Amino acid sequence: SSRKAGNLQWQDSAITKVHRSDLKAQRACCIWFTGLSGAGKTTLANLLDETLYASGRHTFVLDGDCCRNGLCSDLDFSSEDRMENVRRISEVAKLMVDAGLIVIVSLISPLIEQRQKARELFDQDEFIEVYLDTPLATCERRDAKGLYKKARQGLIPNFTGISSAYEPPKNPEIVLNGSNCPDELVDRILRFLGERSERP
Ligand code: PPS
Ligand code: MG
Repeated sequence: SSRKAGNLQWQDSAITKVHRSDLKAQRACCIWFTGLSGAGKTTLANLLDETLYASGRHTFVLDGDCCRNGLCSDLDFSSEDRMENVRRISEVAKLMVDAGLIVIVSLISPLIEQRQKARELFDQDEFIEVYLDTPLATCERRDAKGLYKKARQGLIPNFTGISSAYEPPKNPEIVLNGSNCPDELVDRILRFLGERSERP
């Protein structure tokens, strides 16, 4: 990674992320949704967010579409800019985990390399990759935002799944079939989180 600013020193704080998440009686982690446009990432991230919030968890959602309005408003959908988009959001997610939060990321994050780099920022068991495996045909049939239609007409360049690659994860922690009902999918994730927190 390129570090343009030299001569920086990292001062460790006496208050660790464990202290910060203990304050919330939770275990900080990053739940990372990847999948095609229209796979259901945002819907599921928000439903998971609401469910965890209702049980007293301090969560936060970082959604691609949202971050592209602010934090990443200088970036487009070229390979370089997607790389930077995913990198930037990964770093924000890491800071939020260090702050003791349960961070839910919903980002196409199309490349294995991008998600691997994100994973490497976190401790073991802190990064939970959730592959929302909704077939392209299903996403295109839904076409909630009309983007697939435009992409097929050649009006949107580099559209994921049409004119830009999507590499499915090889070893995600969780694979969800995006055709199932969102409540069931959230239950799957909650069960996974529950199982993890039982471990010493
Ligand atoms: S990425 O690849 O991770 O940087 O993408 P992300 O930040 O998640 O942004 C995806 C949302 O941007 C809209 N959009 C596009 N998606 C894919 N390809 C192209 N060319 C594109 N142009 C705009 C689209 O609404 C995506 O939202 P989701 O929720 O994934 O459908
Ligand atoms: Mg979305």
